[in-house]
Amino acid sequence: TGLDALIKSKGKKYVGFATDQGYFSSSDTVNILKAEGGSVTAENSMKWDATEPSRGGFNWNGADALANFATQNGKQIRGHTLLWHAQLPQWVKNINDKATLTTVIQNHAAAVAGRYKGKVYAWDVANEVVGDGGGMRSDSIFTTVFRDWTFLDVAFRAAKAADPGAKLCLNDYNIDFSGAKLNTFVQVVKDLKSRGVPIDCVGTQTHTGIGSNNIANFGNVLNTLASTGTEVQITELDIAAPSTSITSAQLTQQRADYKSVVSACMRTSACTGITLWGVSDRATWITGRRPLLWDENFAKKPAYQGFVDGINS
Ligand code: G3I
Repeated sequence: TGLDALIKSKGKKYVGFATDQGYFSSSDTVNILKAEGGSVTAENSMKWDATEPSRGGFNWNGADALANFATQNGKQIRGHTLLWHAQLPQWVKNINDKATLTTVIQNHAAAVAGRYKGKVYAWDVANEVVGDGGGMRSDSIFTTVFRDWTFLDVAFRAAKAADPGAKLCLNDYNIDFSGAKLNTFVQVVKDLKSRGVPIDCVGTQTHTGIGSNNIANFGNVLNTLASTGTEVQITELDIAAPSTSITSAQLTQQRADYKSVVSACMRTSACTGITLWGVSDRATWITGRRPLLWDENFAKKPAYQGFVDGINS
């Protein structure tokens, strides 16, 4: 029983949840993680600010807790994330030469991916590198120092050396709909492959909204992502209400939207797994907008049935 068992019975690899140590004191949350999920993603604990707050000074407290939870409960791990312009410590942002930044990326990836070698199904090696307009993101130290995409080559090669068995992904948001950003994202992945850089998967975060027009076209988007020749994963799914009040009509629409998104994955052979960005509406980064499958009191919402219907579609 549970979503993970159901999706596996249909040939997919996992349903997962973002979580972290802070949630483990909630027995309701833990029970759902155990019964419904086959994978966990570290919501915050494997990010650079958490793992390497000072150069060469590592803190494994939260990341180890997440990894131990996964090991003890037989869950896969999605590593999130080795390189991101946000939640990046100031000491990294202060680097202004390419040689130093290259070494720093290599050491970070070696340490973090190396520590969990053999335990991680997939790493988000890099997160959110494409700008919303379809160019290089302008507010990233990696872009401004390198001035080209080759910081990705450095990160992916270092991750490969550290954990050769992990699938290595490029992850981004606002690629769950067609447009310049999706086009650039796909081109970046194809270019990495043509340079011989090891990349195995792409992640579409898929933070979307109830009734969004993007959802109807999501199957086409997954096909576009699959055209990179890599595995496609839905990595941070949530479907938020437009405001903190939610109507019963919106809860019904949310059910339909979850069904549509999940069924698009089921129809796409390259789409291997789906991670929800949290368990219950009680604890989500989109405070109050009820984006998840369980409500504030851990009761299943109509959205849960939508997810099931999507798997069965
Ligand atoms: O840990 C500190 C704590 O010590 C401090 O007292 C508290 C006061 O604000 O802040 C805590 O840090 C917070 C951290 O989550 C851990 O709880 C940060 O303020 C808060 O900004 C941070 O938010 C996270 C956000 O990423 C940061 O960008 C969210 O939990 C997390 O869900 C969110 O996840 C991102 C993905 O990594 C990438 N894609 C988008 C997604 C949603 O924004």
